[in-house]
Amino acid sequence: MDDKLRPAYPVMKDETFILLRDFIYEHSGIYFADTKKGQLEARLMMRLRASNLPDYDKYYYMLKYDPQAARELRALFDSVTTNETSFYRSPPQIQAFQEKVLPELITRREKKGERMLRLWSAGCSTGEEPYTLGIVVKEVLKNALPDWNMRIVASDISEKALKSAKTASYSEYSLRGVPPEIKQRYFNAHDGMYQMNEDVSRLVELQYLNLSDTKRVQLMKGFDVIFCRNVLIYFDDAARKRFVSQLYDSLNHGGYLFIGHSESLHNISRAFKLVHFPGALGYKKE
Ligand SMILES: C[S@@+](CC[C@H](N)C(=O)[O-])C[C@H]1O[C@@H](n2cnc3c(N)ncnc32)[C@H](O)[C@@H]1O
Repeated sequence: MDDKLRPAYPVMKDETFILLRDFIYEHSGIYFADTKKGQLEARLMMRLRASNLPDYDKYYYMLKYDPQAARELRALFDSVTTNETSFYRSPPQIQAFQEKVLPELITRREKKGERMLRLWSAGCSTGEEPYTLGIVVKEVLKNALPDWNMRIVASDISEKALKSAKTASYSEYSLRGVPPEIKQRYFNAHDGMYQMNEDVSRLVELQYLNLSDTKRVQLMKGFDVIFCRNVLIYFDDAARKRFVSQLYDSLNHGGYLFIGHSESLHNISRAFKLVHFPGALGYKKE
């Protein structure tokens, strides 16, 4: 081919797209439909460059057969995940958590004389969701918080997102849904950024966890509330069914699962009781 006609970037062949798509699916549950070939190509372009490889076939074979590819796998996950999030995302769900779910769980635990709660933000991205839960917990328990054994686990498959979550430093845009008095109470403005107060960030335990890693997910037990919002949309139905059934097992009886407000468990699971809150749905394990 005349060099002038050759594209400046390598083109992903259809058969290589299928190989890469299946590889990513097998390792993460993230599924690129046939219509998403262009998106995958664009997202992997940087990985190709960073790995110094001339085309997507070589990249695939490196992932599949190079024993050193474990590190690249994590970089690949960083490239193929969508990390969009914000504080107080889907406010009716946060309100349901603050005004209904948390008080219900607190009362139940207090009746048993146990002051312990376990929350999990599964697919926490850059931390806005688990830190929102931390703020809400502080708002609800107030001065009683030190008497509680409170743990908020926040996990993600993207190392880059977790690294950013660890800094707990956010732009004005990430805080666009935060009520002004909460912003004042829980953040320190500094050089145009907002630093989450340590008394909230220390409640959150960040960890790397691939929801496809069945054995690791099986160890996640005893949660009272799981937020797994806007994560299932990237999977196909088979992976959704698998993950949701594992999330069910991770919950205590009487615990709640929240999924994204535009997501549904229709045809995915009938194990939960659907609970209607004003403007939001919760899935309860009875
Ligand atoms: C769009 S963000 C949602 C963040 C937050 N839950 C929210 O609703 O604002 C989706 C997150 O799911 C994570 N994710 C995707 N596949 C995953 C998997 N197999 N295991 C763990 N996390 C995954 C992505 O890395 C990303 O950070």
